[in-house]
Amino acid sequence: MMELLASIGCHFRIPLKTMWLWISLVLVLQYSKTVLSDSNYLIGMGSYDITGPAADVNMMGYANTEQIASGIHFRLRARSFIVAEPQGKRVVFVNLDACMASQLVTIKVLERLKARYGNLYTEQNVAISGIHTHAGPGGYLQYVVYIVTSLGFVRQSFDALVDGIEKSIVQAHENLQPGSIFVNKGELLDAGVNRSPSAYLNNPASERSKYKYNVDKEMTLLKFVDDQWGPVGSFNWFATHGTSMSRTNSLISGDNKGAAARFMEDWFEQNSAKSDELDTDEIPRRVSSIISSIHNNHHELLELASSFQSSPGKPATRVSSAARRVRSALRQADKPGFVSAFCQTNCGDVSPNVLGAFCIDTGVPCDFNHSTCGGKNELCYGRGPGYPDEFESTRIIGERQFNKAVDLFNTASEQLKGKVDYRHSYVDFSQLEVTIPKEGGGSEVVKTCPAAMGFAFAAGTTDGPGAFDFKQGDDKGNPFWRLVRNLLKTPDKKQVQCHSPKPILLDTGEMKQPYDWAPSILPVQIFRIGQLVILSVPGEFTTMSGRRLRDAVKTMLTSSGSGEFGSNTHVVIAGLTNTYSQYITTFEEYQIQRYEGASTLYGPHTLSAYIQEFQKLTSALIKGQAVEPGPQPPDLLKKQISFLTPVVMDSTPAGVNFGDVSSDVPANSTFKRGSTVTVVFWSACPRNDLMTEGTFALVEILQGKDSWVPTYDDDDFCLRFKWSRPSKLSPRSQATIEWTIPPSASLGVYRIRHFGAAKRLMGSIQHFTGTSSAFVVA
Ligand SMILES: *[C@@H]1O[C@H](CO)[C@@H](O)[C@H](O)[C@H]1NC(C)=O
Ligand SMILES: *[C@@H]1O[C@H](CO)[C@@H](O)[C@H](O)[C@H]1NC(C)=O
Repeated sequence: MMELLASIGCHFRIPLKTMWLWISLVLVLQYSKTVLSDSNYLIGMGSYDITGPAADVNMMGYANTEQIASGIHFRLRARSFIVAEPQGKRVVFVNLDACMASQLVTIKVLERLKARYGNLYTEQNVAISGIHTHAGPGGYLQYVVYIVTSLGFVRQSFDALVDGIEKSIVQAHENLQPGSIFVNKGELLDAGVNRSPSAYLNNPASERSKYKYNVDKEMTLLKFVDDQWGPVGSFNWFATHGTSMSRTNSLISGDNKGAAARFMEDWFEQNSAKSDELDTDEIPRRVSSIISSIHNNHHELLELASSFQSSPGKPATRVSSAARRVRSALRQADKPGFVSAFCQTNCGDVSPNVLGAFCIDTGVPCDFNHSTCGGKNELCYGRGPGYPDEFESTRIIGERQFNKAVDLFNTASEQLKGKVDYRHSYVDFSQLEVTIPKEGGGSEVVKTCPAAMGFAFAAGTTDGPGAFDFKQGDDKGNPFWRLVRNLLKTPDKKQVQCHSPKPILLDTGEMKQPYDWAPSILPVQIFRIGQLVILSVPGEFTTMSGRRLRDAVKTMLTSSGSGEFGSNTHVVIAGLTNTYSQYITTFEEYQIQRYEGASTLYGPHTLSAYIQEFQKLTSALIKGQAVEPGPQPPDLLKKQISFLTPVVMDSTPAGVNFGDVSSDVPANSTFKRGSTVTVVFWSACPRNDLMTEGTFALVEILQGKDSWVPTYDDDDFCLRFKWSRPSKLSPRSQATIEWTIPPSASLGVYRIRHFGAAKRLMGSIQHFTGTSSAFVVA
């Protein structure tokens, strides 16, 4: 050892004494690093594109039949983490940029995981959660109520989800490596307001007085640190609806949470690219600044640009590798991509439209109790901070969550320590006996009811008012809809009483034609990762409902006397997870029958039923006991009906090819940062190829004299891909690509490209590409 050191020291001409000092310093650092990281888990992250069909498909969330997808704002992803004890149990958590989880999707993902990994991943330890964007393709749920507006089941939406979730879990599985997890919490004040304060106010004053706000403001964040690669991801939970994009938007979007995730992943990769001093050739956005310093003469740039005219559309192989480079080029080879997920929690009554709800005709605030304007609900709309620009509102609410998450990420120091464990049970919520405390002492047994929706459901909310003559806070109903309802199913007296004071509009739990209208069997699930506990709920808990559930579980854990759960026990609710069953209000909020109360499916005691069932899971978790698996939910895939017609064929006018530019950038044009470049191409239906993990649109920058480098794709916030056809049955269509040049864009010569796939009459698919003329950004 001495000899070796001496010879190294000699070789580098470092005096032996200094050498020793260095060695001991390195040893101390090494030691403290291992102590600090103290990797106690295996962690793995994964992410995969689940954008789905960007045309013709109804969007899930607002139940607006006219809200049909026609392009992409930015892409949707399934983001996963797996945490395992090296010799013990493991849990998988998947966050979807989708409106909610679907029972059918969950069932099929579990089947695929079983085929691949045997019993490693089952319904017990896999949680699949939705962020509640209202701007993703619908038709992937199995119960009738949730696919009425999408003209039934949409196979493409469903497949994109099942495939993407599976691939993201496989990636996380393959990335499993020793690492540690840190948890951090903080308040974010300006990203959500209560949209049904009149219902919240019906909760007991003594309970309300325990809280400063009428919505939860806390974000809980996990930071995943891989022993080899350092930080590899973060997941956080914060309550606010995915309704920054409105009910008339037609571009696929992850709304505020999807935006926050995109911002944070790009932030991390760009920051680490800078600090890692990578080969600059591999970083397009940085390369471009180097080129611009060579050609900083505007005339030179213009001349260069003028030599690149638009090129006619031409056949292409499936083009996705070019687009993939935009993001992967920011990363070090082999290093897993940074995965950042913004997950949903008890957002039931929380709106991101933080300016409040106003009447669009008069501009005055809507009626407090009913959210109406002159008695009508369809004029009352919530306003986001970017009002009247919904893209701005999405960006701002996304950025607020992103900034808070970065804060929490940078300062996270409390390490998760302890067992990984889970419990899961299926529960029939249609006739569950629930023991609740009785007024004046003792307890009584009450029951939940078969699912039913109240009249105020059809009124919608201030985030997306319903189209019919309904209002929130309605406990009477109207005769016309009662008639329509009676054609479907007349609820009997028992059902009416069970749901009271909810006036029943749709008796969904008792409607079985052509197949089940609503779920009755629901999954409840609890995960434990050290001192963090995740409660997976299949619906949207209101603020106070979430508080009651978390408190009930936390009290059990910390008073269990097992010593495993101290005051630093963190309990989060994962909303819209594993399946979907609409809302859960408190008993008191239910009495007011706003939208959330009307959509609380199993009657006034729905929340108490959840608390009871989660207490069973918690107790079993503490005692190390098993729980009853419960009845299996149905698999209704074979019964699904679809009315969405397939693409028949695509065509172009005579003399025009797919991918030809129909409207180019003006010749020799120069654009300033902040301005928008628009190019229109002859195109074909995006349903022919979803371009999964690829792109329909690309911005490229000129490197040197003739080499083009991808810089922005349709997953970037600044680039919009809009697709349209002149009439519903026309085989002709166009793609409009709009690039709003970000302030961070480098100066240089750019061009815009479009990728697509056309269907011939005989059904074969031909990929194509087209390119605009070059232009200068100065
Ligand atoms: C564009 O610029 C080039 C080179 O500067 C020039 O030759 C050409 O005539 C210009 N075209 C138009 C339409 O102005
Ligand atoms: C809302 O309803 C409550 C209960 O009926 C009533 O006391 C209150 O005055 C109403 N508020 C407004 C602003 O109309």
